[in-house]
Order: sequence, then C-alpha cells, then structure tokens
Amino acid sequence: MKILVRPEHSNEFIAIGEVLRSVFPTDQEAQLVEQLRQHSRLVVSLVAELEGQIVGHIAFSFVQIAGLLNGPVGAGLAPLAVSPVMQSRGVGARLVREGLFACERKGIGFVVVLGEPGYYKRFGFKQANRFGVENECGATDAFMISELKTGSIRAGRILYAPEFAELTV
Ligand SMILES: CC(C)(COP(=O)(O)OP(=O)(O)OC[C@H]1O[C@@H](n2cnc3c(N)ncnc32)[C@H](O)[C@@H]1OP(=O)(O)O)[C@@H](O)C(=O)NCCC(=O)NCCS
Repeated sequence: MKILVRPEHSNEFIAIGEVLRSVFPTDQEAQLVEQLRQHSRLVVSLVAELEGQIVGHIAFSFVQIAGLLNGPVGAGLAPLAVSPVMQSRGVGARLVREGLFACERKGIGFVVVLGEPGYYKRFGFKQANRFGVENECGATDAFMISELKTGSIRAGRILYAPEFAELTV
C-alpha cells in the first residue's frame, strides 16, 4: 500500500470535503476547512493519497495567545480525517507526523490540538494545562500542546481562528 502524504492541490478541494463528510456526522468540518482556506488561515494542509484517491486530510491553522502581541507563532491541528475504509493502517499517524514536520519547517513554534489524549500523546503532545496553556471552551485533558521550537510555549489562553466559532460541538 503506497500512501503519499503531500500538500493539497487546488483541484482536490471537493475530494477533501468528501473525506471530511465521510467521517464527521455533519458538514461542519468540511465547511470549516473551506472557510479557513478561503481566509488564508491554513498554515499547513496535507492530503494522504492512495492510487490517485484522497483518503485522508489534516489541517493546521494559525492560533494566537490572548493578549500577547508578537509572541511565538502557533498553529492548531484540526480537523484530521481518514476515510473509514483506510483507518487503522497508520494513515492518520503519517498525516500528523508529516504535518508537524511541515509546521516546523514553516517556523511554527508550537501546535495545539483538542482531541483524544490516547491518540495524540504518541506524537509528543502533552496536556496543555501543565504549561498554563488554556483554550476557550474549558477543555482540560483533551487540550494538548507540542513544542516544535524550544522556548515557544507561553502560559495563556489560546485563540483559534474566528472560523472555529461557527463550530457547534
Ligand atoms: C482519528 C483518525 C484520524 C485516526 O486515523 P487512522 O488512520 O485510523 O489512525 P492510525 O492508523 O494512525 O492509528 C490507529 C490507532 O489510533 C488509535 N485511535 C484511533 N482513534 C482513536 C481515538 N478516538 N482515541 C484513542 N485512540 C484512537 C487506536 O489505537 C488505533 O489503533 P487500532 O486500529 O489498533 O484500534 C480516524 O480514525 C478518523 O478519521 N476518525 C474520525 C474523525 C476524527 O475523530 N478525527 C479526529 C478529531 S478532529
């Protein structure tokens, strides 16, 4: 099985939306990615391709630390999706690892994620509240952070791109 993980191309936006709709119960995540893309908020947006088909996608968008101007540049990982038939074969792990590497190459200092600790800790994510880093929805253990550039983590409240405000969890 030869999976290629690479940046998305502009002729793949519909296929990416289809992958997102196949794994999430509503259209929200597909719309979120479209909005983030249109508003140039995406730092990194990768696809997993198998024999010409898009089978996975990961997005990273800029985040800010509330009240901190000119602080370290951070990104939020969301959403991550792998087509149901391709799950549990390491595709998600490749997307996360290569996504983090791409963020690092772009000078991103830290990445946050709101998700299953059991899944994300294998990629170096740690509970954000250990560093005094909070999110806007009060999540505790599920809110995690990974430092890509030493010294980039600052205590404070992380603000995701405004497009996330439309999401109803
Ligand atoms: C989460 C997701 C991206 C993982 O992709 P994947 O390609 O199946 O992941 P990998 O093959 O790298 O890893 C699979 C392992 O991850 C772990 N895992 C997967 N989902 C998990 C979860 N929600 N919680 C904890 N561990 C999880 C399991 O240990 C699994 O191993 P198993 O197959 O032996 O059970 C995929 O399941 C998916 O698209 N889910 C629906 C959308 C979603 O929940 N996205 C994440 C939030 S934005």
